[in-house]
Amino acid sequence: MDLAQLSDLPRPAHLRELFATDPGRAERYVKHVGDLRVDYSKHRLTDDVLGALLDLAHTSGVEARRDAMFAGEHINVAEDRAVGHVALRMPRGSEFMIDGENVVPDVHAVLDEMSAFAERVRADPTITHVVNIGIGGSDLGPAMAYEALQAARHPRLRCSFVSNVDGADIAAVLADADPASTLFIVASKTFGTIETLTNARTARAWLVDALGEQAVRDHFVAVSTNAERVAEFGIDTANMFGFWDWVGGRYSVASAIGLSLMIAIGPAAFREFLAGFHTVDVHFRSEPLASNVPVVLAMLGVWYANGLGFDTKAVLPYAQELARFPAYLQQLDMESNGKSVGLDGMRVDHHTGPIVWGEPGTNGQHAFYQLIHQGTRVVPVDFIGFARANHRYQQHHDLLIANLIAQSEALAFGRANAAEPHRHFEGNRPNTVIVAEQLTPAVLGQLIALYEHIVHVQGTVWGVNSYDQWGVELGKELANQVTPELTGDDDAHRPDAHDASTNALIDWYRNNR
Ligand code: F6P
Repeated sequence: MDLAQLSDLPRPAHLRELFATDPGRAERYVKHVGDLRVDYSKHRLTDDVLGALLDLAHTSGVEARRDAMFAGEHINVAEDRAVGHVALRMPRGSEFMIDGENVVPDVHAVLDEMSAFAERVRADPTITHVVNIGIGGSDLGPAMAYEALQAARHPRLRCSFVSNVDGADIAAVLADADPASTLFIVASKTFGTIETLTNARTARAWLVDALGEQAVRDHFVAVSTNAERVAEFGIDTANMFGFWDWVGGRYSVASAIGLSLMIAIGPAAFREFLAGFHTVDVHFRSEPLASNVPVVLAMLGVWYANGLGFDTKAVLPYAQELARFPAYLQQLDMESNGKSVGLDGMRVDHHTGPIVWGEPGTNGQHAFYQLIHQGTRVVPVDFIGFARANHRYQQHHDLLIANLIAQSEALAFGRANAAEPHRHFEGNRPNTVIVAEQLTPAVLGQLIALYEHIVHVQGTVWGVNSYDQWGVELGKELANQVTPELTGDDDAHRPDAHDASTNALIDWYRNNR
């Protein structure tokens, strides 16, 4: 079985027929991992298709590449690095070897430093506001999880997240901050990201202006892999929490990048969060392909991308706290598998990562669900929901979950209406329903790890390196080139370096800024 053969597989019948002839699928196609109940019965799937997909997973080397990751091999070939984010959530005393060294003790040493610091901040009544400055993986993970775990937050402390180089972002946060009670965390794996350094400089100047240079020591900490650059920036490396080049930015929320989150929810809850990841890591590492939840879900995505030609995937959490989860997954998935060059350096001849998008339900129902129900394109959906809310408005929660269940049913089965075609719902719109009892730190960790491993498996089948991101480089390089052309004297603009449209835009900005 290879990828190209997927489109030759017989198309499953309509979901109405699949359920009518095989009601047992509602039980057979439900699996549990940790606290998650994953129902993939409403997919265009039969046992034959699933068998072929699992065969493809095996022949693509899914087990071997998974095992290579857990063995600390340099599977990030372009950067010659191990991929060790799973080591970040291993229990104390376990072993994860990278380049001949067990990294788990180092992981726990940093976690212990973070915990001590977080406890100090939580006990210090003078600090009420923590501002995380970072972007991409140094922002989306902690920002998403801070929202998601709001029920577990410290009552006195609030966190803000500044990411965009657009000054409006930091301006809004500083306008609402008091220098004496604010702690800045500058989070950047490389400590070379222009957005983060620009925001950090602005925040530093704001603080120094109010409290003087000596205040930097008590109000700034850094999270990075690059101590030299942290020192160059003017943050004492004694106030730095480290991590390692074998942690990709978009896989780093469980590292020191999660410091703001740990301060907000406390070290004990942060460790529950890590334990949640680990539960799914163990499942992914040890379950045979057929009962391996991330593998099965990943292969469904491959079936849709390469067999049925569906380009996008919507993630629709029925939990307002997960409002930022789709954005988080966009980086995780699209920066990992949005590639057209394979591990062998050749252009791939199949589609790779899907376009990932989504919003919380029920809001999306009153916005874009029209297209999902009746549009010409098929959008596979992941629904996420919980049996118990983290608030006390039970009636709201019952209504919310009724909507989730109803949408899953409506998409799959539709409703025929021959008399009024505009009211005809053809159904057969595939969806997964992922539910758990309650959104807790552990359950959030499980959800994130589930998606991480889906991305890993799909990257393997598509033959791409899920752990580099060269596609972001060209834009960065050109922005560095254009910046002085916008702000310098008349000679700074170099029309010979650009096309006519770009030149006109540069001129327009120079004339109007
Ligand atoms: O530009 C993309 C990227 O490198 C992401 O992969 C990363 O998460 C983000 O920028 C931020 O990088 P850093 O943590 O090094 O500032």
